[in-house]
Amino acid sequence: MMGFRSRFVLLLCLAALLAVLSLSLQFLHLLPLPAGLYTSDQGKLRKRVLVDLVIPPSELDAMYESHRYCNRPNHTVQGLEGHVPPGYHLASIVVMIRHGDRYPLSSLPGVSQPDIACDIKPEREPTHHQLATFVQHMRQADLTHLEGALASLPLFPTVRQCETGQLTQTGLVQHIMNGEYLRQAYDNHGGLFADVDPPPHVETTPRSRTLQSAMALLYGLRPMFPWSSMHVRSQASVYYCGTACDCPARGLYLERTEQERALNRAQAPDIFYKALAELLDLSVAQAKSTLSVDPLLALFCHGQQLPCRQRGCLKSASFRLLRQHQLTEERKSKRGAMYQRFALLAMYPMLNRTASHLQRIAEGHLAPRLSLCSGHDTTLEPMLNALGLHDAPFPRYAARLVFELWRKGPGVGRVESHAIRILYDGEDVTSRTSFCRSRPAHEHCPLRVFLDFVSSGMLAPFNTSSYQQACQVLQRAL
Ligand SMILES: *[C@@H]1O[C@H](CO)[C@@H](O)[C@H](O)[C@H]1NC(C)=O
Ligand SMILES: *[C@@H]1O[C@H](CO)[C@@H](O)[C@H](O)[C@H]1NC(C)=O
Ligand SMILES: *[C@@H]1O[C@H](CO)[C@@H](O)[C@H](O)[C@H]1NC(C)=O
Repeated sequence: MMGFRSRFVLLLCLAALLAVLSLSLQFLHLLPLPAGLYTSDQGKLRKRVLVDLVIPPSELDAMYESHRYCNRPNHTVQGLEGHVPPGYHLASIVVMIRHGDRYPLSSLPGVSQPDIACDIKPEREPTHHQLATFVQHMRQADLTHLEGALASLPLFPTVRQCETGQLTQTGLVQHIMNGEYLRQAYDNHGGLFADVDPPPHVETTPRSRTLQSAMALLYGLRPMFPWSSMHVRSQASVYYCGTACDCPARGLYLERTEQERALNRAQAPDIFYKALAELLDLSVAQAKSTLSVDPLLALFCHGQQLPCRQRGCLKSASFRLLRQHQLTEERKSKRGAMYQRFALLAMYPMLNRTASHLQRIAEGHLAPRLSLCSGHDTTLEPMLNALGLHDAPFPRYAARLVFELWRKGPGVGRVESHAIRILYDGEDVTSRTSFCRSRPAHEHCPLRVFLDFVSSGMLAPFNTSSYQQACQVLQRAL
């Protein structure tokens, strides 16, 4: 019989052994790290840094959220992109972005427009060491490599006084930094960024802010890239639906969502809008139905005084209340059935295309290994939702969503030897997607599971496997 003491010592040894085993497993990347924990392979960063990118504090903190949204480029970009699962090789990446910081899309009545500069001055903050060479490179652009109307858009912001929705220097710096970070994270994996045959697939909506954001990111990825290796395509729809944009049901679900949002706003306690309404000489009802928080956020993001009139300025506490309300409503609305159906239909064509693209690469066909799609919050928000990431925060300025395709060993030509990872602003969210949520946490998400989700799972809520059918407006479905 073992005495109490020796049993205790035995237990202690066992515990120590387990601890060492678990640590070394994590170190060798055999077990995934808890989400949000950053380690580096090559000792680039020796410390573990808690990044906590996607999960906001459990209490929705309006100020924290607003800072996150602005994404001021005053710190290095962090993330878990490029973390190779053991035994795998990177086969392809698809990067979807929201444009960087921009001038507001609307203004407040009776308040002067924010004074924000939209020309590039490397000596002005926020700056970046590549800003001057970026501008030079854009001046020497060969415009024949830009599709259609894109060639008539400026490749970088040029005017002192911003126009509605224009990219700012901050927005440009945000995406140069994203590109620079991705270059480090992937270490130009086997020449990924320098492919010429076929060259990277680059696509943008025909707006200057998205085109300029794409250019900035590409420049960060590959400074002084040769224009001959560049072909920038234009995508007319913010949903990237290409030739499959005709979808009446999508419009209807979005309309329902907007009606719900308007109703919620109208019914919101007056306290949220009172201060702003008083400042602008509006009734609270008018303020609720007509005002947008966007111009206030622009002031906040640029560290400027909130709007002032004769009677004084909007107080920070009032801004906080407004944002608190807006964020709470946004969350509620995103979880609604109408928005989720809208998101699935809006993103079906783009996910279908992404799935086919990754499948072609997995099967060994020649296809661009790097894809970049530059869009809007109205692109990324439904995309996150369609993937099942309902609780992901609203896409901030210069947000990035990355699909990584990994190949195990010499498995060229076989879908079964491929896995995907999905990262949102650097955080690995694969295990929170609707298709890989129920899998054991330490297993990789097989490409096959993603392909099956797109070809059937995605449309299951519409009781069909046909996008065209799901798009038909059926009275009974509403
Ligand atoms: C960056 O700016 C934000 C907002 O002004 C501030 O809260 C944060 O501390 C700054 N970060 C660094 C690293 O300076
Ligand atoms: C989905 O992808 C397949 C294969 O590329 C294509 O034939 C089909 O037209 C696509 N459907 C839509 C709605 O985009
Ligand atoms: C699909 O079928 C279920 C059960 O019959 C029904 O509750 C649901 O509303 C249907 N969905 C659509 C979009 O028609």
